[in-house]
Amino acid sequence: MKRLAIFASGSGSNAQNIIEYFLNNSSGTIAMILTNNPKAFVIERVAKFNIPVRIFDHEFFNNSTAMIELLSGNKIDLIVLAGFLWLIPKYLIKAYPKKIINIHPALLPKYGGKGMYGSIVHETVIQNQEKESGITIHYVNENYDEGSIIFQARCEVKPDDTSKSLANRVHELEYLYYPKVIEELLIKMDN
Ligand code: GRF
Repeated sequence: MKRLAIFASGSGSNAQNIIEYFLNNSSGTIAMILTNNPKAFVIERVAKFNIPVRIFDHEFFNNSTAMIELLSGNKIDLIVLAGFLWLIPKYLIKAYPKKIINIHPALLPKYGGKGMYGSIVHETVIQNQEKESGITIHYVNENYDEGSIIFQARCEVKPDDTSKSLANRVHELEYLYYPKVIEELLIKMDN
């Protein structure tokens, strides 16, 4: 069974959804949760699952030896970013080639990049009068939201949408597809 590490900086609803999906799934298990934010709600959310949570700071994150030791010590096969806001350092991308994935709440390559996260993404999509938005699941490279795309799903942007109503619609796509796409990657890794 493949071992996953989830990195999350905030609410962690995707992290929880992924954990729940893999509770009854033999392709993978969530071995650990990592966060840079000691106040992140994800910590409370995952407490009931008894999965180790590691809180780290910039110094630890930039210390390749420490981070790699932590991940390899936990035999991590795939790193899943779920609302993780820091740029992934080069050493980590080198150590886990095509083994780090992210989800973005818009149709990349539009509406991505540094600072494009959370409600700002949806506000900008609405301001630009886009007719559709969606999700992008992609490999992570050294730039924000630029790695090659694995999967996209679309939804309508309604004329009366607020960033909140659009965010909710996009979140539904995230919950539906992120675990399934992860599962497919895990199965491919076996072959
Ligand atoms: C999601 O919309 C995801 O696309 C983005 O950050 C958000 C995280 O939400 N990368 P949550 O913390 O999983 O609720």
